[in-house]
Amino acid sequence: MTNGGGIRIAPSVLSADLARLKEQIAQVLEAGADWLHVDVMDGRFVPNITFGANMIETLRKLTEKPIDVHLMVVEPEHYIESFADVGASVFTFHPEATIHVQRQLEAVKKQGMMAGLALNPGTPLALAEEVIRDLDLLLIMTVNPGFGGQSYLEGSNDKIRRAHTLRTTHDARFFLEVDGGIARQTIAAAHEAGADTFVAGNAVFAAADPAREVQELRRRCMVTA
Ligand code: DX5
Ligand code: ZN
Repeated sequence: MTNGGGIRIAPSVLSADLARLKEQIAQVLEAGADWLHVDVMDGRFVPNITFGANMIETLRKLTEKPIDVHLMVVEPEHYIESFADVGASVFTFHPEATIHVQRQLEAVKKQGMMAGLALNPGTPLALAEEVIRDLDLLLIMTVNPGFGGQSYLEGSNDKIRRAHTLRTTHDARFFLEVDGGIARQTIAAAHEAGADTFVAGNAVFAAADPAREVQELRRRCMVTA
């Protein structure tokens, strides 16, 4: 699956009510969520601990849609095989977390997953540029990773724009994803800057009606299309 246009809304399970996981996932999928985003944190790369392979395995039983896994862990290479086995579709890691970035991108693809690279707000785009032809997805972090519910860093729009230009210049076809603080107030500008795939945790699951919020986020992008 390459980026054939359109936009994707990827609700982040991090903000879901785990006691009602099945119901909430069904709600957002029914409302047209395209992907499910899973944040894997190890307490080392980021100061928080979350999910592992068992969460991906659980979600895979609930949907056939793409499961977008974002690894905020050191040495993500240890999870490539096991995450592929339980049904991950996208495997995105941070370049600071591993020594051989290009080797790991290849290893991810060999396991049949899409390979993504994630850049923290303070990490230069140049790190991705060196492997631009190897990417299925480029994730621009629009908050410092570790927690849901943080505010969108406004300076991100310029970086998204530069990433979009890079994609055009290299005639590359990766998904350009944004993650952190995506909400009604921020999504249109990120879309206008060139993002096409939107992770949203708090905005969706803290809303009174998560299904309606998924639709509303998509609508806000259409307005800027
Ligand atoms: C942040 C995570 C995000 C998080 C986004 O560390 O990578 O995926 O779930 O949450 P919101 O949308 O609440 O900022
Ligand atoms: Zn994430």
